[in-house]
Amino acid sequence: RNVDVLLHRDFVIGTTDPRLFGAFVEHLGRCVYGGIFEPDHPTADKNGFRQDVLALVRELAPTIMRYPGGNFVSGYNWEDGVGPVARRPRRLDLAWMSTETNAFGTNEFIDWCRAAAIEPMLAVNLGTRDADAARNLVEYCNHPGGTALSDLRREHGWARPHDVKFWCLGNEMDGPWQMEAKTPEEYGRIAVEAAKMMKWIDPTIELAACGSSGRRMPTFGRWEDAVLEHTFDHVEFISLHTYLNNYAGDTAAFIASCDLMDNFIDEVVAIADTVAARRRSDKRIMLSFDEWNVWYRTRRGRDARVKPGWPVAPPILEEIYNMEDALAFGGACISLLNHANRVKAACLAQLVNVIAPIMTETGGPAWRQTIFHPFAHFSNFGRGRVLRAVIDSPTYTASYLDPNGPQDLYFRLPAVPYLKLAAIHDEKAGLLTLFALNRSLTEDMPLQVRIEGFSRLEVAQSLQLCDADLKAVNTKEAPDRIAPLRRGELGR
Ligand code: AHR
Repeated sequence: RNVDVLLHRDFVIGTTDPRLFGAFVEHLGRCVYGGIFEPDHPTADKNGFRQDVLALVRELAPTIMRYPGGNFVSGYNWEDGVGPVARRPRRLDLAWMSTETNAFGTNEFIDWCRAAAIEPMLAVNLGTRDADAARNLVEYCNHPGGTALSDLRREHGWARPHDVKFWCLGNEMDGPWQMEAKTPEEYGRIAVEAAKMMKWIDPTIELAACGSSGRRMPTFGRWEDAVLEHTFDHVEFISLHTYLNNYAGDTAAFIASCDLMDNFIDEVVAIADTVAARRRSDKRIMLSFDEWNVWYRTRRGRDARVKPGWPVAPPILEEIYNMEDALAFGGACISLLNHANRVKAACLAQLVNVIAPIMTETGGPAWRQTIFHPFAHFSNFGRGRVLRAVIDSPTYTASYLDPNGPQDLYFRLPAVPYLKLAAIHDEKAGLLTLFALNRSLTEDMPLQVRIEGFSRLEVAQSLQLCDADLKAVNTKEAPDRIAPLRRGELGR
């Protein structure tokens, strides 16, 4: 039957923050080395930045880039990655059992962001390091000059401060896999002390405290509550991470699983607002969904994630995405858009080669994975006022397996609407964009959309990502096997 959607120009959830459309570069596998940075590549510029990758990044249109990790940051000495490259130490990276050459570090990352016209988001190490190292990095990056650390930056060749505004206080500190994982109390204490000093150095920065590294974590809820009890007055954001999977080979459940992101967001908002209520505070902590994606094939078991012999930039976590991944991924984009009032930052994890929308061959070409397309649409058409859609859609039930914790967890989804939709009104451009995911595996979905409050509307363009083969992928040889079709081409 028809699915009905009702929209009104004045019924608004919120306005999307430009930082909602971020991504993530970690020192992991071939994300940095052989990904964004490859001095010997035929397209590399004088800084070693691959221009073919940069061109795809511009098309993908991420707005903010998180760096340098991820699990990597919890063992990272930022000092190793600055100064003359020849003098930088090689280190064992215990996050990904690799050798880190440090040929690329903070200053190179900032230059890359400037070249890509992307805002940098830096994470500090609150695993093996402490609040002192964190505040030193802020001084090195953001203080104009006249102190040892700011002058060191100048001596290294960056006279102007980097002016990094968005900082993450560590990464996934609740996870036992993390170097120096912490209890919520331990983390809350170190995070608040780091936050205070970082802001004393630069009061214009914004900070994100680590939330749970997944909704399935045994400490989820308790963690956010305790961490925010410590950090509430000193941070603007709490983070969330989610990786969707199809371990069970159940496509219907897989493309329903983005609805669990909606629950996760609502729950974190409730906890953050509870902490606010206890203090009778009208401050609202915003959410930074600073890792999200589909990831499962290259996730389970250590063997899938590390290569022996401490290699430099090994090809790990090189997930090849198919058509159904793009559908689940598109659903996640819709979840983020529909929470634009509270999710003010988000980062697709990651950018190149490592669970990424862009793939490269070292020395060879770069191409778009299937998930590239929904992200590019999300970012290019997702700016504006998100309208509150009233949807009347038939539903189905699903049971979704999330096995990455200590035990297999099944989440029941009792009423998954076949239609998942977000509506964005870009007033300046005069555009209303509908992002719609048909979750039926067998049926087309005729949509009946009633839109009120606009004087005149006409269809500007209609793009569709669909394929009869849900397992189809893009490869170096067939890089556009899965690509959006335009209206008029839809019969292809
Ligand atoms: O994005 C890959 C890894 O997933 C990150 O390093 C970590 O934060 C998360 O567990």
